[in-house]
Amino acid sequence: MSETATRAKSTNDIKDIQLADEGRRRTEWAERAMPVLRQIRERFKREKPLTGRRLAACLHVTTETANLVVALQAGGADVALCASNPLSTQDDVAAHLVRDHGTKVFAIKGEDHATYYDHIRAALAHRPDITMDDGADLVSALHMIALNRLDDLAPPVRKWVETLSSAERKALVGGVIGSTEETTTGVIRLKAMAKDGVLQFPVIAVNDSQTKHLFDNRYGTGQSTLDGIVRATNLLIAGSTVVVAGYGWCGRGFAMRVRGAGANVVVTEIDPMKALEAQMDGYRVLPMEEAAPIGDLFVTLTGNVEVLRVEHMRAMKDGAIVDNSGHFNVEIDLEGLKQVAKGPVRVREFVDEWQLGGKKLFVLGEGRLINLAAAEGHPASVMDMSFANQALAAEHVVNNAQKLSKDVHRIPADLDHEIARLKLQAMGVAIDTLTPAQRKYLASWDMGTTSGWIARRIRRW
Ligand SMILES: NC(=O)c1ccc[n+]([C@@H]2O[C@H](COP(=O)([O-])OP(=O)(O)OC[C@H]3O[C@@H](n4cnc5c(N)ncnc54)[C@H](O)[C@@H]3O)[C@@H](O)[C@H]2O)c1
Repeated sequence: MSETATRAKSTNDIKDIQLADEGRRRTEWAERAMPVLRQIRERFKREKPLTGRRLAACLHVTTETANLVVALQAGGADVALCASNPLSTQDDVAAHLVRDHGTKVFAIKGEDHATYYDHIRAALAHRPDITMDDGADLVSALHMIALNRLDDLAPPVRKWVETLSSAERKALVGGVIGSTEETTTGVIRLKAMAKDGVLQFPVIAVNDSQTKHLFDNRYGTGQSTLDGIVRATNLLIAGSTVVVAGYGWCGRGFAMRVRGAGANVVVTEIDPMKALEAQMDGYRVLPMEEAAPIGDLFVTLTGNVEVLRVEHMRAMKDGAIVDNSGHFNVEIDLEGLKQVAKGPVRVREFVDEWQLGGKKLFVLGEGRLINLAAAEGHPASVMDMSFANQALAAEHVVNNAQKLSKDVHRIPADLDHEIARLKLQAMGVAIDTLTPAQRKYLASWDMGTTSGWIARRIRRW
């Protein structure tokens, strides 16, 4: 497809509708592990909190996302869905949503750059009241339109926007009552917009919920990144040296899992606090320059650009494997590699060989997040909580559109705790509750070391 052609029709653009049966079976399998979202879906069915709302979602098109979309539609929303990454779409799931739920889906696994953005255009052409992003692609396109920075739009979006009158452009952006954002990288972009005073509508940072990043980023990314690497390479992890760039929520989770599989783990960081934590968690902490010559496998999980640069790749061993699980394909300097290396030669699905100064280097999944490129993304059980947050965030936007300022907000803490409570309940895990005396004690300031009279006072409570 040429950079500016408009390909997608208004209802869907998917690979093959015949895949729908497989997509339905796999979506139902995921649903079994998503009890919290199921409860929200059943309540949405009764209460219809999203009635009359048009919602555009730019998310990884996976079985878990299908369950979220079904819940949103049960709540009354009219949903258009496009992919938040060109490699992460599960074509059978896209077919299932179109055939069985009438969702407008614009996503094909492996779509080129132009098609990816044409699908973003199609989601915007749905003229949403609410947008739901994983990486802020919808919101940033809307802001380029609002700020008249059309040159910063990808050609398929720009060409379409140029056909709209200024009143239509205004209505497109002004029609959005609020947005939700799934991931760390998206939230960073949105906070930068709020800081610059350009944010046009309120955004709920789903990633900032505890029931999101504590579990999805840590346990979800930890397990699924290892899964993606193993599926792509069939590598034996035990005994290898794995270099983990970034010791945030995702890095901690991955380092923990890969150590469990028997690797010697080296962590690189730029934040002294995180580096100290990694050191005390028992990992070896090194600058990338020193880690480069000793690593067998390199994984970036930072949300930053050019974490692995040409100078590092030159220093790597023959046969080193390089890959990324951060949101965008910017963490490994593949443009720089192209300048100095020969390749790529595809040696296995998701594995590209590069010749660099007499050595071979292997890049996985074209530097895109490997857990979604080569595996299926996070397990449904963890997405249960992330997408419970998304569904409740959409409802929160509708209920509070007038009150929310044009800023980045968190989901209210009581909703976050409620999701944790429901998840524990579904897992059959009971916990204690505060006694009246404990509640009073925790709220008091005038009791220190116990003595007889304090103990007597507590007993009287
Ligand atoms: N693969 C997935 O499915 C998935 C899931 C959730 C989040 N993410 C993405 O993963 C990335 C990390 O997310 P997070 O929640 O762990 O963020 P985080 O902010 O908790 O952690 C990022 C860490 O990277 C460190 N860092 C930044 N630049 C660095 C550099 N040059 N070298 C070494 N370390 C550096 C930071 O100090 C920080 O500790 C983001 O892009 C996020 O959107 C991916």
